[in-house]
Amino acid sequence: MSIATTATAPASITTGRLVLRPLRPDDAPAICTALSSWDVVKNLARVPWPYERADAETFIAKAGERAAAGEEHTFAIDNGSLVGAISVRGIEDGDAAIGYWLAEPVWGRGYATEALQALVDHVFKTLPVVSLTAGVITDNPASMRVLEKAGFVRSGPTQCATLARGEQAAIDHCLTRAAWERS
Ligand SMILES: CC(C)(COP(=O)(O)OP(=O)(O)OC[C@H]1O[C@@H](n2cnc3c(N)ncnc32)[C@H](O)[C@@H]1OP(=O)(O)O)[C@@H](O)C(=O)NCCC(=O)NCCS
Repeated sequence: MSIATTATAPASITTGRLVLRPLRPDDAPAICTALSSWDVVKNLARVPWPYERADAETFIAKAGERAAAGEEHTFAIDNGSLVGAISVRGIEDGDAAIGYWLAEPVWGRGYATEALQALVDHVFKTLPVVSLTAGVITDNPASMRVLEKAGFVRSGPTQCATLARGEQAAIDHCLTRAAWERS
């Protein structure tokens, strides 16, 4: 993995098959296509349903603003074109939260695991974060497996407020800096 950095956020993170890079305005059509799948959106907290082109444009604009403020880093997951997104937010608290999605046609190739492991390494190597968490809705075993492969452990039940299907029972997953250093 190689990391190129700027003052506020890494310009990009390169893995074996993927580049994690900042979102661009011309990503809106690919984001809109990917998030036109209920099976993607139903598992996400902050994504509205149905998903419109304007939602993608707002997502890209807000990602830029939050990155500039140092609050949140959102990356396109790019394998030659955008196939997903991954973000880390709450950096300033030290307890940051991770979120991600992949377009349905590329599920099952290990991309989410590859992107998550790269982002986790980036966060603990470069940011003053002590723990990472991700809340996973209970009917999303694929995401729980992705987190497990990246070293996260289940830390307890929680509730996840989703725009698409309201309040859902979820399970928090956590990876501490200490556990990451031991791995
Ligand atoms: C969850 C998601 C990111 C996984 O992406 P992906 O690139 O397919 O994930 P990976 O290929 O890296 O790993 C998926 C793992 O889950 C496993 N898996 C898939 N479906 C499963 C299921 N129904 N039950 C149990 N495990 C499952 C796979 O076998 C694989 O594990 P393995 O490598 O041990 O075989 C993708 O399905 C997605 O975007 N879903 C919608 C959005 C979402 O859920 N985001 C996360 C919110 S917490």
